Amino acid sequence: MKKLTFKFSYSSADYYFDSGVSQLREIADQKNSVIITDENVFDYHRKRIGQWKVIVLKPGEEFKVQRTIDSIIGQLIALEADRKTTLVGIGGGVITDITGYVASVYMRGVRFGFVPTTLLSMVDAAIGGKNGIDVGVYKNLVGVTRQPSFILYDLVFLNSLPQSEWINGFAEIIKHACIKDGAMFEELESGSLTKFENRKNLLRALVRRNALLKTRVVQKDEFEKGERRLLNFGHTIGHALENQYKLSHGQAIAIGMTYACHISEWVNRFKETDRVTRTLEKYGLPTYAKFDAQRVFEVLKMDKKRERTEINYVLLEKIGRGVMKPLPLEHIRSVIQQL
Ligand SMILES: NC(=O)c1ccc[n+]([C@@H]2O[C@H](COP(=O)([O-])OP(=O)(O)OC[C@H]3O[C@@H](n4cnc5c(N)ncnc54)[C@H](O)[C@@H]3O)[C@@H](O)[C@H]2O)c1
Ligand SMILES: [Zn+2]
Repeated sequence: MKKLTFKFSYSSADYYFDSGVSQLREIADQKNSVIITDENVFDYHRKRIGQWKVIVLKPGEEFKVQRTIDSIIGQLIALEADRKTTLVGIGGGVITDITGYVASVYMRGVRFGFVPTTLLSMVDAAIGGKNGIDVGVYKNLVGVTRQPSFILYDLVFLNSLPQSEWINGFAEIIKHACIKDGAMFEELESGSLTKFENRKNLLRALVRRNALLKTRVVQKDEFEKGERRLLNFGHTIGHALENQYKLSHGQAIAIGMTYACHISEWVNRFKETDRVTRTLEKYGLPTYAKFDAQRVFEVLKMDKKRERTEINYVLLEKIGRGVMKPLPLEHIRSVIQQL
C-alpha cells in the first residue's frame, strides 16, 4: 500500500491516502487491534468493520468526556488488550480525539491510528496529534499531544455523511485556503459543494491537499507556540458564538472568519472580505449574524489566548496569507459593534 511518512518532534506518522479500509489488516494486526467507533459509523459501515474487535460508543460531543474513557478502559481490560494492542479510531473528530487520548494513557501508551470518516476529521481533527476530552463547559481541556502511527483514508465513508457534516468540513477547508493557499481558494470559489460531492477525484485531491497543508503547519510548530495558531482563524469569535447559540462548529467559525476579515480590513488593509463571504455562502455557511455583541465580547475577554488587555488574533493580509497580531480588546469590541 502506498504511504507517505511524516516526521514530528518525537515520532512519525504514516498516511495512506489512496486506500480502502479493507487494507487496514496490512497496518494493524487484526488479532491485536481494537476498533473504537460510534453507533452511526458502525450502523452504516458494519460490513466493513464488523469482523474486528469493536467498541461502539454513543455518537456526539457530549460523550467526549472522562466517563466514556473509563468505560472504554473497562472494555479494553475485558478484551485483554495489552501493550501490543493497536487502537484504531474509525469515526469523526469525537472518535479520533477519544481514541488518541485513551491510547495515550492505557498502560502508559499503546499504538494507535485513525480512519477518519467525516470530511472534517479527514482534513482537520485526525491530523496533528491533539487528543483530548471536554470537562463541563470547557472543550478539550484535558488531553495530550501525541501523533497517531497511521491515518488511513477511505472516502467510501463519506457516502453516508449527512449534508450538514459536509458543510462543517468545508468551513475548515475554506479556513485553510484563507490562511495558507490562495490557489486552493480560487478552486473553491469556482467549484461547489455538489461538484466536490459528485466528483470523487476532485474530492480526493482536495482532502489530500488539506491534510498535507495542516500537517506542514503542525510539523513546523507541533506544540503551538506560533505558526500552528494560524489554524485558529475564525475560531476566536467562533468559539464564543458556538457556546452561546445553537450553531454547528462550521457555522460558528464561518461567522468568526467573516468578522476576522473585517478586523483585517482595519488592521491590515485587507481587501477581499467579499470573496471570503461569497465563498462561505456558496458552501452553505452563514456569514453575518445578529448576536449580542456584549455577551460575545465578555466571552472573548475570558479567551485563553488573551494576554492582558490584548488578544492574539489571526488576521489575513490577503487570501492565502494569515498572520498573528496582538490586538487591543477594545478595538475588537468596536468592530463587532459596528457590523
Ligand atoms: N484534535 C484536533 O486537532 C481537532 C481538530 C478539529 C476538531 N476536533 C474535534 O473534532 C470534533 C468534531 O469532529 P466531527 O465534526 O467529525 O464530529 P463527530 O465525530 O461528532 O461526527 C459528526 C457526526 O457525524 C457522524 N458520522 C461520522 N462519520 C460518519 C459517516 N461516515 N457517515 C454518517 N455519519 C457519520 C457522527 O456519528 C456524528 O453524529 C470535536 O470534538 C472537535 O473538538 C479536534
Ligand atoms: Zn475548527
